[in-house]
Amino acid sequence: MTLTMTPSQQLLTPQLEIRGGRQLSGEVRVSGAKNSALVLMAASLLTEDSLRLRNMPALSDIGGMGDILGALGVGIDRGSDWVELKADSLNQASPPYELVNSLRASFFCIGPLLARLGVARVPLPGGCKIGARPVVEHVKGLKALGAQVTIEHGVVSAVVPGRGHRLSGGRIHLDCPSVGATETLMMAAALADGESVIENAAQEPEVVDLAGLIIAMGGKVRGAGTPTITIVGMERLHGADYMVIPDRIEAGTFLLAAAITRSRLRVTPVIPDHLRAVLSKLEEVGCRLEPDGIGMTISADHIRAVDLRTQPFPGFPTDLQAPFMSLLATADGTSVITEAIFENRLQHVGELQRMGAAIRTQGNIAFVEGVPSLSGAPVTGSDLRASAAMVLAGLVAEGTTVVQGLHHLDRGYDNIEGKLNALGASILRSNG
Ligand code: UD1
Repeated sequence: MTLTMTPSQQLLTPQLEIRGGRQLSGEVRVSGAKNSALVLMAASLLTEDSLRLRNMPALSDIGGMGDILGALGVGIDRGSDWVELKADSLNQASPPYELVNSLRASFFCIGPLLARLGVARVPLPGGCKIGARPVVEHVKGLKALGAQVTIEHGVVSAVVPGRGHRLSGGRIHLDCPSVGATETLMMAAALADGESVIENAAQEPEVVDLAGLIIAMGGKVRGAGTPTITIVGMERLHGADYMVIPDRIEAGTFLLAAAITRSRLRVTPVIPDHLRAVLSKLEEVGCRLEPDGIGMTISADHIRAVDLRTQPFPGFPTDLQAPFMSLLATADGTSVITEAIFENRLQHVGELQRMGAAIRTQGNIAFVEGVPSLSGAPVTGSDLRASAAMVLAGLVAEGTTVVQGLHHLDRGYDNIEGKLNALGASILRSNG
């Protein structure tokens, strides 16, 4: 499992050199879901027993979350694709700023820490290139569960007043179906006194995965995957042995790798319900999809333009907007892509233009006129999914594409170049 980089490794500027124009073939295996794995790791704070998580992806973000939990006193043992966490001697209610700042998902710790210790101080996660990432809904919900919350000097401090310092169940209506807020509040409510209801909850598969874990730990959760989630708080939760769901965004990225190279690939495992909106757009652009119960075989030759708009689940995921744009940059016709979740998530447009794509933007809308071919160029991924979009474009571009900014890519893709090379791509990782 990849751990945090040492200072000497950080000085190097690793890059991928992609020689484009090769068709792909064969079968590719999807790793465990990053966004599930991160929140499930935080859920280890809910019990003093050990929690074993399987199907863990090897990602730098997972190493970062391990560092944060370790700093709180959680014992960690890890193997190639599993991690065992034991929070039996928590000695801190406050993860260090340096660690939190580099990993937004570390804010998840506030819910379980508060539920378990009655107090938590977590630095406010930093801004993010794709747009503001407020935690208003998380804070509002924790208050509804009885916490006193203040934000001062960049730190969110929460304390549960009264004897016992136990949160109490409450009714929370989220103004927007925030994934992070839903997960934070589910974990907090899992140890609260009484029943909690989260209305307008996020319905993402990662929320359902967290509910599955809480149930496996002896908790009671109903309605995950719908807009109303009910959690009955328990006095204590116990350990569990739990399998992380497959990464739907990684699966979508490989399906798009097949589409952009006009190839035939089997991607496995794929849970079609996790990818309905994406699969339907892939069929609309002309791909053929054959689900087989475990995986999905995709074949593509002619790609047509399509319009799409990102939305909360079950709508089209914002995390696949940039990778899908790379495909549409090579389609027949003009596509209109609307990014409706994050206000600044079209930064990959400039880089795709450098590769010959014909894209205009107006606010959060991109008009993508397909071109017959892209050309290799040096490009930089401005965030995780933008980097994946660059890799996809590089697979089909004429000549060599050099993708920089790999610290983003390595946060969320487990050995992407190894997996693509096994399918026939030509990608070399070097140190610039
Ligand atoms: C999670 C995912 C991320 C994905 C995103 C949207 C993890 C670790 N990350 O991020 O990959 O892109 O969901 O699917 O799971 N918002 C508010 N107020 C709040 C909280 C959020 O207005 O208090 C807004 C945000 O500005 C954004 C939208 O809600 O416009 C979605 O954010 P949210 O669902 O919270 O995303 P994350 O949980 O941070």
